[in-house]
Amino acid sequence: MKVLVAYESKYGATEGIAERIGERLRTRGLEAEVVRCSDIGDASGFDAYVVGSATYEFRWRKGARTFVKHHADVLAAHPTWLFSSGPLGTETVDKDGNDVLKGAEPKQFATYAELIHPRGTQVFRGAYHHDKIRGGDRIVAWMPGIREILPEGDFREWDVIEGWADSIADSLAAART
Ligand SMILES: Cc1cc2nc3c(=O)[nH]c(=O)nc-3n(C[C@H](O)[C@H](O)[C@H](O)COP(=O)(O)O)c2cc1C
Repeated sequence: MKVLVAYESKYGATEGIAERIGERLRTRGLEAEVVRCSDIGDASGFDAYVVGSATYEFRWRKGARTFVKHHADVLAAHPTWLFSSGPLGTETVDKDGNDVLKGAEPKQFATYAELIHPRGTQVFRGAYHHDKIRGGDRIVAWMPGIREILPEGDFREWDVIEGWADSIADSLAAART
């Protein structure tokens, strides 16, 4: 079974998550290709799809949004899972007691629920390194008090990421039997 893991990433954190998902699917006997969304011309020819993006200002990156827009029919017709990477830090609830991962869901999860009926959606914690920031992000990154919202570090939870990939492999295996 062939799975396409398509991703968009600005500074590499989401790329690393996509690579790990691909590796994990391969250890489960699936053929997984991990490709940046903007490098994909023809998305057909796969049995299942995993699409993920970094979240910036509550939205997926443009390359991922364009990918879904252009390939919505293919994604809707196959088992598809979506993920995002974003929240920084280790807190599970914010100062108002709200679930951090739920609150970090990109707008696209709601939009794509109708469009492609994904089998699952998942928010993963991300990574942020102040010195890597470039372009327009620098305006945000240097705002007073921003370090509380964008704490520096690599908060990716590899066991959670691998567990999610395993659940996809399980679901695809169950569909085959
Ligand atoms: C300017 C800026 C805006 C961000 N906005 C959000 C956001 O709205 N929600 C979120 O969960 N994370 C946000 N983040 C954190 C990033 O999504 C996180 O660092 C992510 O893992 C980066 O992935 P990448 O390295 O693949 O681009 C923001 C980071 C920066 C620098």
